[in-house]
Parts: sequence; C-alpha cells; structure tokens
Amino acid sequence: MSEIARIILDGKEYELPVIVGTENEKAIDISKLRGASGYITIDPGFKNTGSCKSAITYLDGENGILHYRGYPIEQLAEKATFLEVAYLLIKGDLPNQKELDWFVNSITNHTLVHEDMKRFFEAFPTDAHPMGILSSMIASLSTFYPESQNPNRSIEDVELTMHRVIAKLPTLAAQAYKNNMGHPVVYPKNSLSYTENFLHMMFGLPTDDYNVSPVVNDALNKLLILHADHEQNCSASTVRIVGSSQANLYSAISAGIAALWGPLHGGANQAVIEMLETIKNDGGGLQKWVDKAKDKSDSFRLMGFGHRVYKNFDPRAKIIKKAADDVLEALGVDDPVLDIAKELEAVALKDQYFIDRGLYPNVDFYSGIIYRALGIPTDMFTVMFAIGRLPGWIAQWKEMVEMGEPIGRPRQVYTGATKRDYVDITKR
Ligand code: CMC
Repeated sequence: MSEIARIILDGKEYELPVIVGTENEKAIDISKLRGASGYITIDPGFKNTGSCKSAITYLDGENGILHYRGYPIEQLAEKATFLEVAYLLIKGDLPNQKELDWFVNSITNHTLVHEDMKRFFEAFPTDAHPMGILSSMIASLSTFYPESQNPNRSIEDVELTMHRVIAKLPTLAAQAYKNNMGHPVVYPKNSLSYTENFLHMMFGLPTDDYNVSPVVNDALNKLLILHADHEQNCSASTVRIVGSSQANLYSAISAGIAALWGPLHGGANQAVIEMLETIKNDGGGLQKWVDKAKDKSDSFRLMGFGHRVYKNFDPRAKIIKKAADDVLEALGVDDPVLDIAKELEAVALKDQYFIDRGLYPNVDFYSGIIYRALGIPTDMFTVMFAIGRLPGWIAQWKEMVEMGEPIGRPRQVYTGATKRDYVDITKR
C-alpha cells in the first residue's frame, strides 16, 4: 500500500501522497496543498524541496554515491569517453558502436561557428572574463539558428540544436581564450576527438599541427566526465526553469553558464586556486586560514569545501585528488599549491567545526590543480566546468520538455507593507 503523509492545518487534516523513487528516496507531494488548504510551503534555497522527478542522475550525499543513468561515476571516469557519457545522459542508455559513431560524427560536423561571430569577439575588452564571453556567445547562437526559437520544433530540429551546442561550446571557449591572449584563432580540426580538438584549438597555432599529449587528453576526458551532470544543482535548475518558459535551448544554456559562474557554484574552482595562491604567498601557517573560515564575522570561506548534498565525501573529489597526483607525476610538474591543498585538507578534516558540519573537499578543490598542470589559465577553469556540464544541462532540459513540466514559478510569503495610499511628492 502506498504511504500517505497527514498534515493538520487550522484543525483540519489533509492527506498528501508520498512518492518513492527507484533508489527508495521519499518525497511528500504538496502540489495540491494550496488549492485544498490555502497554505504553501516555504524553503529558501530549496534545501528540502524536490523540483521534479528525474531519471538522469542519482546522488546519495550521505554515502558519497553518484550514478549517471545507473552507472557509477567511478566506472565511467575510468572507462568511457566524454561523448559516450554525453550520449548516455541525453539518450538514457550507453550507445552501441553504430550509435556512438553517428553521434560523434554529427557533433564533429558542427564544430565551426559563424564567421560573423568574430565581430562579437572583437568588441569584448581584452581582459573580459571568458565566462561572460561564453554566456553571451551561446545566447547569440540562437540568432544564427532562428528555427531553435520555435517551441513546436520537430525532433530532428531539437536533435540538431543539441548537437550544435555540444560542438560549438569548445570552439567558442577556445576562441575566447585566444582572443584574450591577442592570438590568432585556431579553427577546429575534425580528424581529432572532441577533447583533442579542444586542446588543439586552445594550444595549437593556425600554421602548425599540434601534438596532443595522451596524458593531458586522458586527464581532460576524465575531468569532463566527472562534471557532466549533478542532478538539480543551481545551474541545472536554472536551465530547466528558463527552458520551462519555452525559451530556446541556447538561451537556457546561456543562463546555466551564468549560474555556474558564481564562486559558490562552478566559479569555486577559480576561487580555490586564488585562495591557495594567497595562502602560499602569505607564508604563514594553515591554521590561521582554517580559523578565518570558522569565524562568522569574517566572510572568508574555505573555497572547495562543503556541499549542499554531500555530507560525507564527494566521490568526484576522491577521483580528482588521485588524478591530480597521477597527472602531475606523468607531466613532471611540481606544484607547491598541491602540497598546500593536501595540508589544508588534512588540517580542516581534523577540525571539529568541519566535522560537525560535514564539510569535505568538493569537486572543485583539486580540479584547478590539474587544469593548471594542463596549462589552462585560472580564469578558464569555470569554462572547463561548463564544457563538462553541458551534456547534463541538455539532458535536464530535454527531460523537462519531454515530461511536459509546467512553467517554473515559485510562490512567496509576502512580508512587505500592507496597503497604503499614494502620497503626493510635496508631502513626503
Ligand atoms: N567554509 C567554512 N564554513 C562553511 C563552508 C566553507 N567552505 N561551507 C559551509 N560552511 C558552514 C556554513 O557557514 C554553515 O555554518 P553554520 O551552520 O554554523 O551556519 C554550515 O557550514 C552549512 O553551510 P551552508 O552555507 O548553510 O550550506 P549550503 O548547502 O547552503 O552551501 C556551499 C553549500 C557549497 C555553497 C558551501 O559549502 C560553500 O560556500 N562552499 C564554498 C564554495 C564551494 O566550494 N562551492 C563549490 C560547490 S561544489 C561544485 C558545484 O557543484 O557547484
């Protein structure tokens, strides 16, 4: 028999259905509560509110479990390619060879961006943050492909838009970097894989063949997979809510990029390295920084620590910490910032403040150290996160559309002034 929750309001009892997910996650369905009782529920930051049913990613924060479509993240990071994982997230199952070939081929054929977009790049200040450029460029793609704006588009059109955005995001990201450097743009080379092509556009020259290091390519593939989806996080929820108004996919992804940029979300990877650099240059002990992070009158937080959902460990951080060691060793890079990160982690994890609040290193704590070793500049770190997260955003958007979800529109409890009459300006 299905469970029922009972709530008593103003002496009257209401029965609310209980929904149980495939991993036995339970939720009380309050969607009809207001109509029946006049009450809404309130939960700032949606700390205890499910916004949808989803079959994409399963996350158990207490036990540090993360599955994409049922597959453990550890297995995917070890064995899959990024585009294979993108297919899995978007389509629901791992592709066979024929399906993967079709998907990779279609994406590879859309890597170029319209030459007119060069003029947009020229207009940005040379020190423009690449996340600002990327968000603008992705939104502007909708103007080059107006068919994407039709909410009643065909399945083929939707598929084409999804492939276009996956293909063009790395091209635009690399062009943003080249533009900031004042270097000539390197066009995509379609004989290369997705990750190789990105490295070629970032670090190659228009005149030369760029030799992609297999170590760098493998590390990038793993990092992108680890970032590919994370259920209803801030940027994915943004993508779903923007898409719920039937705005086109490019605009929804552009909004997702903007949400990701913040230092409490994807922007933390840049903030972590800046914090570790500050600690290194300060030359003092680590306890001082841990104490600052605990001091409620100080706005400083240990960036890369803590997570809304993980309260035990972040499985992505575990894989990335090991990968950081492996990549630095394979590339022969000695980065003192990695030692500081490890020492800081050790000090914080023994501290009662962090233990009591379940604060552990998250995905962003060690990822920046790998990006640095790969030669990616600090202000491009969050762009790397965006490239990784793109298939997840697309899968979340597609699921929202296919489930026919209503427009996202929360309610509020009004706490402002009650009705008052207009006062003429001379009498105020
Ligand atoms: N340093 C010091 N104290 C912290 C930290 C931190 N990094 N994170 C949380 N706390 C404290 C916080 O002050 C609060 O203490 P109290 O209960 O005494 O008021 C308690 O821990 C709970 O924190 P919260 O801010 O209520 O938790 P939240 O779920 O709203 O925020 C978070 C989660 C990730 C925004 C937060 O932990 C944070 O700001 N971390 C640093 C930024 C960061 O690394 N973000 C990347 C997240 S992972 C990548 C992604 O998917 O976005």
